[in-house]
Amino acid sequence: MTNELLAALDPAWTAADPSGLIPEHAARQAELETLDPGLAALYTRGAEVLAGAPDAPALKQRIVALLGRERGALTRALADMPKLSLEERKVRGRGLNLAKRWLEELEKAKRAALERAAEAREALDVTLPGRRPWVGHAHVLLQIRDELLDLFHGLGYSVYTSPEVELDEYNFVKLNFPPDHPARDAHDTYFVSDQVLLRTHTSPGWVRAMEEMRPPLRLVFPGRVYRAEHVDASHLDQFLQMDGLFVDRDVSMADLKSTLNTFARSIYGSGVRTRLIPIYFPFVEPGAQLDVACAICGGSGRAKTGDHEQRCPVCKGSGWSELLGAGMVHPNVFRAVGYDPEEVTGFAFGMGLERVAMARYSIPEIRLFLENDLRFLNQF
Ligand code: PHE
Repeated sequence: MTNELLAALDPAWTAADPSGLIPEHAARQAELETLDPGLAALYTRGAEVLAGAPDAPALKQRIVALLGRERGALTRALADMPKLSLEERKVRGRGLNLAKRWLEELEKAKRAALERAAEAREALDVTLPGRRPWVGHAHVLLQIRDELLDLFHGLGYSVYTSPEVELDEYNFVKLNFPPDHPARDAHDTYFVSDQVLLRTHTSPGWVRAMEEMRPPLRLVFPGRVYRAEHVDASHLDQFLQMDGLFVDRDVSMADLKSTLNTFARSIYGSGVRTRLIPIYFPFVEPGAQLDVACAICGGSGRAKTGDHEQRCPVCKGSGWSELLGAGMVHPNVFRAVGYDPEEVTGFAFGMGLERVAMARYSIPEIRLFLENDLRFLNQF
């Protein structure tokens, strides 16, 4: 009888030891073995497939195959009883009752175990650390810009912004670069058309501001500028600048110098070493350049790599790094905007924000500012 009935239980079904669920399992198995060995084999396989059911639907399918009222293996064994002798019937009857009770008990225990496991999977562990919402922050260049705006605000300057797509007239002509002037060569320019270009500096803002307002003026001009540069570790074809312009009666070079020193000390600390050297720009006379001691070599011009010392690669051995251009506004610029150069004087300066940040944080590579690598950006 057993083989035929065992066939009701799919041989592919996963089996497991029921002892974990029913500690008396081994004892029950032994009891049935002595009572009715034929039935014991069916019981053993039945108990193992119940214990091995992977989920609730499988458990249901298996208990039906065992105890289902129509086709259950044990139900059919019961139906076969009339074929047996009276003595055999007594034994089988007792055995079937035991097996049925034990299998039902096991099925209940297994169902409870599956439910507990499902609950554990869905449970909310309130002791786990929470996930912090991700918070961004301003780009290092915008932090520098804001810090500079704060500083100049404190010195009485207001902000003036002007277009990135600019007229040749404002970018060059009114700043005392006549057409074909050789100083234009220093500005590799992206032209949109003959008369329209991407501004190469923020200085055209002075012209627009002065055409709009009468002196005295105290303005800063933050913004993005473009130059058709060959991109390398210290050049990009777009970068940020901030110009400053101070126009009044009797403004002097000494005012310029004290303003630049205030700026340098505020950005680099009171111990910073600077120098002001003469240099040519068409829109200022005299023109000057402010240098700071190179942040990489500390002004020595020599840098150590490993054991040997060599020329500092960042300042190229000079010990200084160029920070900004400055000077007294050229009389021709005042004339171009309708100011009388006999009446007003003024100074102006213009700095590259990337350069300011690089000198302050010893950043050797300008391209990092545009690459948006969080490992870089998160350091500031
Ligand atoms: N506009 C100049 C530049 O981009 C910098 C500068 C500004 C120089 C103001 C002098 C005075 O190169």
